[in-house]
Amino acid sequence: MCGIVGYVGQRSARDVIYKGLERLEYRGYDSAGIAVVLAEDGVGKNFVEKVAGKLKNLQNKVGNLSESSGLGVGHTRWATHGEANEANCHPHISDGITIVHNGIIENYAELRKEIGENRFYSDTDSEIFAHLVADNRAKGMDLSEATRVAFQRLEGNSAFVVIDRDTPDTIIAIRKGASPLVVGVGKNEGLVASDVPALLAHTRDVYYLKENEFVILRHDGAKAFDLDGKEKRIQLEHIEWDADAIDKMGFPHFMLKEVHEQPQAIAETLRPWIVESKEKVRIHVDRMSSGSVVEAVQAAQNIHIVACGTAFYAAMYGQNLIERYVRVSARAELAHEFRYRKPHLRSNDVGIVVSQSGETADTIAAARMMRERGMKVFAITNVRGSSIARECDAVFLMNAGIEICVASTKAFSTMLAVFAALSVGLGVAKGHIDEEQEKEWVGAFLALPSLLEEQLKQGNMIQDIAKDYQNMKGYLYLGRGPYYPMAMEGALKLKELAYVHAEGFAAGELKHGPLALVEDKMLVVAVAPEGSGELHLKTLSNIAEVKSRRGTVLGIGQAKDSHFQDISDRYFSIPTVKLGDLNSILSLVPLQLLAYYISAAKGCEIDQPRNLAKSVTVE
Ligand code: M6R
Repeated sequence: MCGIVGYVGQRSARDVIYKGLERLEYRGYDSAGIAVVLAEDGVGKNFVEKVAGKLKNLQNKVGNLSESSGLGVGHTRWATHGEANEANCHPHISDGITIVHNGIIENYAELRKEIGENRFYSDTDSEIFAHLVADNRAKGMDLSEATRVAFQRLEGNSAFVVIDRDTPDTIIAIRKGASPLVVGVGKNEGLVASDVPALLAHTRDVYYLKENEFVILRHDGAKAFDLDGKEKRIQLEHIEWDADAIDKMGFPHFMLKEVHEQPQAIAETLRPWIVESKEKVRIHVDRMSSGSVVEAVQAAQNIHIVACGTAFYAAMYGQNLIERYVRVSARAELAHEFRYRKPHLRSNDVGIVVSQSGETADTIAAARMMRERGMKVFAITNVRGSSIARECDAVFLMNAGIEICVASTKAFSTMLAVFAALSVGLGVAKGHIDEEQEKEWVGAFLALPSLLEEQLKQGNMIQDIAKDYQNMKGYLYLGRGPYYPMAMEGALKLKELAYVHAEGFAAGELKHGPLALVEDKMLVVAVAPEGSGELHLKTLSNIAEVKSRRGTVLGIGQAKDSHFQDISDRYFSIPTVKLGDLNSILSLVPLQLLAYYISAAKGCEIDQPRNLAKSVTVE
């Protein structure tokens, strides 16, 4: 939602923070700011620079901040309260106190009134916290106490980093709810940020702040406390990430790089599922988790798969596979609907939450709700130390590597791969998939990365198709069964990247309304590889209906499918994989590249689409 960086140490805080913010800009890019404290002759002074718009607008102003300050905080914002102008930009200052915030103060109206309207210079909820801490300092509390006590007045999920002109060697980081903070402990320096990439240039020894916890950070280390002030043990984790992961590596955008990383990412995702023993190669579920997932699923009457956005489309795919191979009723639901619709949940039901970041507020709330009802909840996530990973009963890591582009690509395909492996593994455990079929699946999983490589080599063909179709009146994406979620995802990619109207539909739904939209300026992207059994022919009939109304069709299917090719205006063929369910993963590449090239042709901001942020840590 927002990106936070704090630094205390011997280096120039402004430079460390600016570089850190560059690594976090995917979290918000409405405005940016940095504040440092400079202590001279024992007297500390605050300095702050802010700009509306992207971080690069701050570059010229950063030089106004003293290079020699070793204490500061910075922020990139995704606006919630107050428009994205300079006054609303963080950091916020009240007397000697400087704060940066990620989250929402839900009781802000009441607190703002109590503090007094005349003290406010911004429309943000965040400024409240600066005043509350400053007032506590004025009452004689030390910085950590002033922060802790002020924090307890707030409702809603928030993370703050606080510095004080009068304590120029200390940072306080505090959090509650789905607003992540990670502390980095370096040699003679301490850092804190919303995400690990901001720390990697300085340290790989990190500590993820837990719920309702605060940390006192100095150049010589960090101490953690609960919100009652009781000290807790800190166990640092060592991050092994490859630093290249956060560079574009010669690609013009992170998105294109991440699309091309999919073969490797899928291989990494599937590798731990496939167990080789002397007798055979098999797919193993419980090796992938901390407890007996199999037992929980065996006892379940229903599986609730809950997620938002792209992750929800992965959940739809998961629902399909789980029902088919595990033979248990499964339902994919949007987290923000699920949590408020008072669902009927039994304690022996199972929840699966899907979230790349592991920090999406609604998804976390849904996971908590299910756990409170006594259910076992499993997580599919890309971030090992995320809130979702920490709170769920078992974790299936996607192993996609860091995804920087706001629009998900490799995160989606690896979610699908996890669902495929999980469904097959559970199907085997429940006896619905026999040894021969399991062997076939293993073979198909192992072949998938090279098939994806093959497909990526055809990328220029999609670039050419995108040229023809970049100025259509609208875009309809159609699919059935396992391709329906792909149609939804294809449309979402185009909407978020190219700012054009695109809709995904179950192809059978077309004649119930959307067909009225069809004309020659409407592009219909039909995702219909074979492998969906009888549904394939039904989708082709739907495409014929589009053609008879002069719609323009881009077909995505197999090379051998000459009928489909004949009825399409343009056609992109995907390789044939032995098990049809994996065609969904192969059909993604053309959908992702179509959105990418149309967006590039329109000159849109590909990695940071307007109005969006990578992880949505507010409701
Ligand atoms: O981190 P999550 O997977 O929980 O994020 C959920 C959605 O915000 C996310 O999938 C979003 O829809 C995509 N970035 C869009 O490409």
